Parts: sequence; structure tokens; C-alpha cells
Amino acid sequence: MTDGVQRAPDAAGTAAAPAAQPAAVQAAAAHGSHAGDAVLSVFRGDAKGGAEVEYRVPVEPGMVVLDAIHWIQAHQAPDLAVRWNCKAAKCGSCSAEVNGKPALMCKSRLEHFPPGKPISVRPMKTFPVIRDLVTDVSWNYEINRKIRPFAPRPGAEWRWQQHDIDRAQEFRKCIECFLCQDVCHVLRTHELKHQFAGPRFFVRIAGLEMHPIDGADRSEFLRDQAGLGLWNITKCCTEECPEQIHITDNAIIPLKERVVDRFYDPVMKLWRMVIGRE
Ligand code: SF4
Ligand code: FES
Repeated sequence: MTDGVQRAPDAAGTAAAPAAQPAAVQAAAAHGSHAGDAVLSVFRGDAKGGAEVEYRVPVEPGMVVLDAIHWIQAHQAPDLAVRWNCKAAKCGSCSAEVNGKPALMCKSRLEHFPPGKPISVRPMKTFPVIRDLVTDVSWNYEINRKIRPFAPRPGAEWRWQQHDIDRAQEFRKCIECFLCQDVCHVLRTHELKHQFAGPRFFVRIAGLEMHPIDGADRSEFLRDQAGLGLWNITKCCTEECPEQIHITDNAIIPLKERVVDRFYDPVMKLWRMVIGRE
């Protein structure tokens, strides 16, 4: 290969040279493809390494990247590994990096990409690759297990207002796609998984901490184990969230304020002494 990109193998399993017509193109031609086809450059490989392989896919109106991946599986590469479930942007399974941007493949319409240029589809960078587009996201579930669950105050009663519902519902919209974790530079660039829980779990903790009848205090966890102090205000996570959760403004900043009040504000410390709460 001279261009660093492989072309899909032909029916006999032989990789076609870039100079010759790629087998994927021939396969697409057999399925009635034309100049409006899309070329997807899909990562093929595993934890040991891999490379992008180009596939030409006939485009139908309304087609999304996940449809194109399914077409490739059906016609050219049945062993192409991809995780998906709902194809409705609700299960959070089909997260990947499309043209270098974290995205749900089932929400990425082909018509939104520049025509005539290959669309790169790669696994999320922040998590270890298992195979092709599938990554190992189990670290997230380990973090989740460390978070103190909902703990209602004994005998607590609350007259619910609409704004209480709205606030809780925003955090509950999370589909655990982990795109916010993927884009977060603390995890993605600095690889501080051992010190930092990531935006997804600040959203979860915010939902618990701001619940009107929850009585647990998670501020020590936020400071010492979740690494809230490593966060800064880049808002990349908020920009990528497919559920439009205001991760930065509504979850992380209020949690930061709680931690500051709890550990660093002398007036609040005095107040807690007066009311007999440490
Ligand atoms: S907060 Fe948004 S981006 Fe992060 S996991 Fe939940 S839905 Fe995905
Ligand atoms: S397949 Fe469920 S979110 Fe994409």
C-alpha cells in the first residue's frame, strides 16, 4: 500500500492494490452503485494494531453511517465487528469516531459529510479496542459501582415542584454512550482514568446529589476519588452529548461549588459547626 489505506478484499480474500479497481468498488458495482456512492474508511484491527480499509457503499436517502456499516457487513465484510442495538440514538451502543469526531453512528447521516471524500469510521480512542469498531468500556461500570447510590433521608417528605422534576429528568436522559468520556481530554489525552471519573459520572452524581430527598454526601468521593479538581471548563463533553445534557453548567459546576463549600469555604465551615454537622 502506498497511501496507508487498505482496500476491501475481493471474494477470494485477496486485498486489491490501490492502483487496480478495489474489490469493494466491484462489489458495490454488482449492487447497482453509482457516482453518488459513499466511501467509508473503516478501522479494521484489534488491540495489537490495524488499519483503515475502504469500502464503497451505495447510498440510499436518509442513510446513516450505521446503515453503511451494516451494508458492508452484509455484502463485503461479514466479520466486521460493530456494537449497536436500537438504531434510534437511545441505547448508546454505537459510539465511534466519524471523521475524527465522537458520534453515534446511527445519528450520523451520510448526506452531512462532504461528497466525494472518504468518511473515516474508527473506534473510540479513549477505550481499548477489542475488535474493529468495538471498544472495551467496562472501566465505566467499575467507576459506576463506586458511587454511593440513592439514599433517602429517613422520614424525608417533599412536595415536588416541576423544576425538581425537570432537573432530575435532564440527568436521567443519559444513554451511557460514553462519548463525553471519549472526548474529555483528561481521559483521552492525559489518560488519567485512575484519578478521574469523567463527565458521565459527574452527571450521575449530580442527579443523586440534587435529588430533594437524597441524604448521602458524595463530596469526599468527588474530591478524592472522582478527581473533580482535574476538570476545567472546556465544555467539549457538553458539545458532544447526543442528549443535549448541559453537563458543564448543570452538573459539573454545581458539584464543584458543593465541594468548595464543603471543604474550602470558612463561612460554611463555621455554619456547619453551628448546626452541628461536619
Ligand atoms: S452524558 Fe451525554 S455524552 Fe455522556 S454518556 Fe450520557 S448521553 Fe452520552
Ligand atoms: S444503535 Fe442505539 S444509540 Fe446507536
